[in-house]
Amino acid sequence: MNLTIRRPDDMHCHFRWDDRLKTVLGFTARVFGRGLDMPNWKIPGHPWGTEKSPWAPGVRAQDVLEHRAMIQALCEEHGWDFEPIGCIYITEETDTAMIEEAARAGIKACKTFFRGVSTNSGWGVRDPLSVGHQRLLSAMQAHGLVNSMHVEKPGVFILDAEREALSVFERIVKTFPALRSVIEHISTADAVRMVMNLETPNVAATITPHHLLMTLDDVLSGGIRPHNYCMPVLKRPEDREALIQAAISGDRRFFFGSDTAPHERHTKESSCGCAGVFCAPVAMPVVAAVFEHYGALDRVNWFTSESGPEFYDLPLNEGTITLVKRPWRVRASYGDPEHPEKCIIPYLAGEELAWQVEGVDFS
Ligand code: NCD
Ligand code: ZN
Ligand code: ZN
Repeated sequence: MNLTIRRPDDMHCHFRWDDRLKTVLGFTARVFGRGLDMPNWKIPGHPWGTEKSPWAPGVRAQDVLEHRAMIQALCEEHGWDFEPIGCIYITEETDTAMIEEAARAGIKACKTFFRGVSTNSGWGVRDPLSVGHQRLLSAMQAHGLVNSMHVEKPGVFILDAEREALSVFERIVKTFPALRSVIEHISTADAVRMVMNLETPNVAATITPHHLLMTLDDVLSGGIRPHNYCMPVLKRPEDREALIQAAISGDRRFFFGSDTAPHERHTKESSCGCAGVFCAPVAMPVVAAVFEHYGALDRVNWFTSESGPEFYDLPLNEGTITLVKRPWRVRASYGDPEHPEKCIIPYLAGEELAWQVEGVDFS
């Protein structure tokens, strides 16, 4: 069985600033035409760094452009035809001039974390409804930048953190109706309902492959599985079902963002492990399997290849990829085998998958 679709885009990727970039980029760049380059990096020696924390995330347009150049150099070296979509990280020190500069530099989105909810969110904002943040949202709206949000409230019981933050997202959408806002990596039926009820084409949500496939049981039942641990944490079976129904519905407001988030093995297999699932090597095979199971293979193209770029107002990719139903086994780890502690363990490591992308061998 074969499925040919327009070359897909991944609207939520973590490629990192350090050596992990070299290890992980190809898994996205060989399959996807573009990837939204999430800026929660630790840039060493950044001028915003302090003596105690001598780094900062991609807060300035020039940081994002520098990362783009790093990606482009790797793509040139390997002959990959891939383009990052730029995104700046919004902090409480960001001003409207920085947003304007980002728009001028061709950056498409601004990422907001509530402070302290996820990897490198310590620079995030304490109150996305504050007057200061609203000034930034207004600038994003004026310059046509997309407001991309990690919608979870810090300090709230973890299974309720997304639901409790939905009202904040909703308030932003209602205050800035012309601003395009994305609620990233949704994990609950409540988030699906909210997006549907808002009834505006200016709101969308990304959905990850792992939130389509798993529930909290896959992290905690019968042993702890740190490689399945991510934010927002996987939820209940009925939440997963709602995400699947949204993804396969053909509703253009739900599109693919893998949230591929590589961490070195020793930082995942630890007494206090990092959040993030490195799903890039299996992203399209997982989507194909889920859509096939639900008899919706004809809608993969919308989910992964058309709804995202249409929302972002980007031209659709020109080429195609073909998914073939031919089993393969996911590698146990990627990276330098001489340093196993630094290797990156992919999602579904060691498992056999039914689908693969033709001409791209990740086994
Ligand atoms: C992401 C990461 O590791 O950068 N982790 C995650 O669990 N999703 C950050 C994020 O997307 O919140
Ligand atoms: Zn996030
Ligand atoms: Zn993410």
